[in-house]
Formats: sequence, C-alpha cells, structure tokens
Amino acid sequence: MNKIKIDVKVNSIDISKEVDANTLLVDFLRYDLKLTGTHVGCDTSQCGSCIVMINNKCIKSCSILLAQCNNSIITTVEGLGKEDKLHKIQESFKENHGLQCGFCTPGILFSALELAKDKDIKSDHQIRDFLDGNLCRCTGYHNIVKSIKNYLNKDN
Ligand code: FES
Ligand code: FES
Repeated sequence: MNKIKIDVKVNSIDISKEVDANTLLVDFLRYDLKLTGTHVGCDTSQCGSCIVMINNKCIKSCSILLAQCNNSIITTVEGLGKEDKLHKIQESFKENHGLQCGFCTPGILFSALELAKDKDIKSDHQIRDFLDGNLCRCTGYHNIVKSIKNYLNKDN
C-alpha cells in the first residue's frame, strides 16, 4: 500500500503522520486518534452520523480520504465543547432533550452549526429540510428540531 504524509490540525492539535493512501478520514479519527465520538452508521454516505467540520464546513467523514484533507483544520465533537463548558448548540440539545441514544447527535450538532450560518432558515420545515442528510434511528426529530430552533433564537 502506498504511504503518504499528511499534516492536519484536529481539534486544535497539529498532527503529522504517514498513513496508507486509502485511509478514510473516519477511520483515521476513530482508530488512529481514538476520537470515537464520530460514528459510523451506514458507511454509504446516507446517515450523517460521521459528519465533522473540515475548514468550518460539514463533511461526511466516511466518504472522504484523509489524503483529501491534507493541510486542513478538522473539528470533531470532542473539539466542540468541553466537559465543564458545553458549546451552546450542545447546551440547547441538553435543555430540550434533543437526543435519545445519542448515536446521531455528533453529526446533527455539526449540521445544526452549518444550518445556523444561513440566517434565512428559521421554520421547522426549513430545519427538517436541511437535516435531510442526517438520520436519527431513535426518530427523535421533534426535539432535535426544537433544540436547533432554540439555538437559532439565541444570540449566537
Ligand atoms: S457513516 Fe457516514 S453517512 Fe453514514
Ligand atoms: S438519538 Fe438515537 S439515533 Fe438519534
């Protein structure tokens, strides 16, 4: 297997490593860096459980090679908030019971942050539409939408 050298910043930490050229980003995060908050729900780019931010944009990490992320800034759910100080979107999910098993939650948190960049998205319908690429197998969509709406209505 061809090896390549990659340089990335993950959750504010610089990482320089030689990896197999066909390494998926999600495998690198979960198995090399032990950042297991990024989940794999389908492996076929449908569920959104593996979503992370690359250069501040949502990406399904099961569908991108690490090599394609060279010199990028990557944020996983572990880098979003701190245990004693959650990110505001995490607080909103906590306050509004926006999760059940939590498997889909990391991906949905990042989708919510991406959604929040569009100031025209406000209604339940628009939020549900935006979450098209995120599946919650607990089907807790009502409180997920409520959590996101609550976050959008706060001064962020
Ligand atoms: S595991 Fe990546 S979209 Fe489902
Ligand atoms: S909270 Fe269980 S999959 Fe969404």
